Amino acid sequence: MKALVLAGGEGTRLRPITHTSAKQLVPVANRPILDFGLEAIRDAGITDVGIIVGGTHAEIEAHVGDGARFGIRVTYLHQPAPLGLAHAVLTAADWLADDDFVMYLGDNLIADGITQFVRQFRERRPTAQILLARVRDPERFGVAELDDTGHVVRLVEKPQHPPSDLALVGVYLFSSRITEAARSIAPSQRGELEITDAIQWLIEHDEPVASQIVTGWWKDTGKLDDLLEANRIILDTIDRRVDGDVDADSDVQGRVVIEKGARIVDSSVRGPAVIDSDTTLTRTFVGPYTSIGAGCTIVGSELEHSVVLDGVTIQDIGRMEDSLVGRQAHVVRSERRPRAHRFMLGDHSRVDLP
Ligand code: DAU
Repeated sequence: MKALVLAGGEGTRLRPITHTSAKQLVPVANRPILDFGLEAIRDAGITDVGIIVGGTHAEIEAHVGDGARFGIRVTYLHQPAPLGLAHAVLTAADWLADDDFVMYLGDNLIADGITQFVRQFRERRPTAQILLARVRDPERFGVAELDDTGHVVRLVEKPQHPPSDLALVGVYLFSSRITEAARSIAPSQRGELEITDAIQWLIEHDEPVASQIVTGWWKDTGKLDDLLEANRIILDTIDRRVDGDVDADSDVQGRVVIEKGARIVDSSVRGPAVIDSDTTLTRTFVGPYTSIGAGCTIVGSELEHSVVLDGVTIQDIGRMEDSLVGRQAHVVRSERRPRAHRFMLGDHSRVDLP
């Protein structure tokens, strides 16, 4: 069995972060989201992994390399444009050959991994096996309609009037028949070859499509709120480890990871939180559910429930919450006259002032 990981596409909902970097590499608890998926695949005993890449291929390839670090063997598959999840399957068709495979969307995070789903697929051998999760906003996802016996009767992609609250999770198991389905469908209204439509095609051709409802948490991290929630969930699983320097005037409480080379000066950190190497906090409070990347300088501020990427400078800004700050950003209070807010914001940035 192989794994096909989708790390192409455009992260429109996480702009401006994803103007310059791949959305699958945005970190939660200071680790790229993609890492969790690759580890789940390896833990399920799958080592032959194809990664679909697009415009951000260089960054993905630099991070994952040949996969040895994750205990897998990676083949990169270039998708010329993000023309849909079923188009990604067609892009990979030669590499997949006649093998069964798990398709894993690189921006999805799923508790408890995928081992159990892979085992079930191997035992039952349906043409396709989908995972479903109950959500409050099904119109954002592919949605499944089940009959009284729990069989999937229909799948629709992002319907205006969802037939149920069961969303398609971004982990699918397929036999090679899915390639024929992907070849047989037409692009959707948003111009993509939808995997949802390809699975619907299988249903219409009387192919067995099994489904399973996921009870643990699952997150599509494509939006800011979901990313912050994923960060929260992962931070809740960390153990305390302080390898950096904490001075006598500082206070580090609870489950906190402070990496080697980080310095905590006259500051308080209340976990769960992670602070990466070569970051310095001075006269700062870091509250629960905060991840701060490497090489940051944070002075005279309060940060809580936020994700701060590498190389950021934050100085005397008062309190910041519910935020995602991109690499090398500067957020500082200045004494310049006239007193005014001065911005240089990337396209699609968002600023909320109290
Ligand atoms: O997260 C679950 C949802 O994922 C499902 O409920 C939907 O049925 C499914 O269509 C998909 O919806 P999204 O609109 O969230 O998919 P997105 O465009 O975000 O793409 C998912 C991942 O696949 C993402 O890591 C980018 C990558 N991708 C996407 C496209 C369209 C590719 O590699 N190539 C592509 O052509």
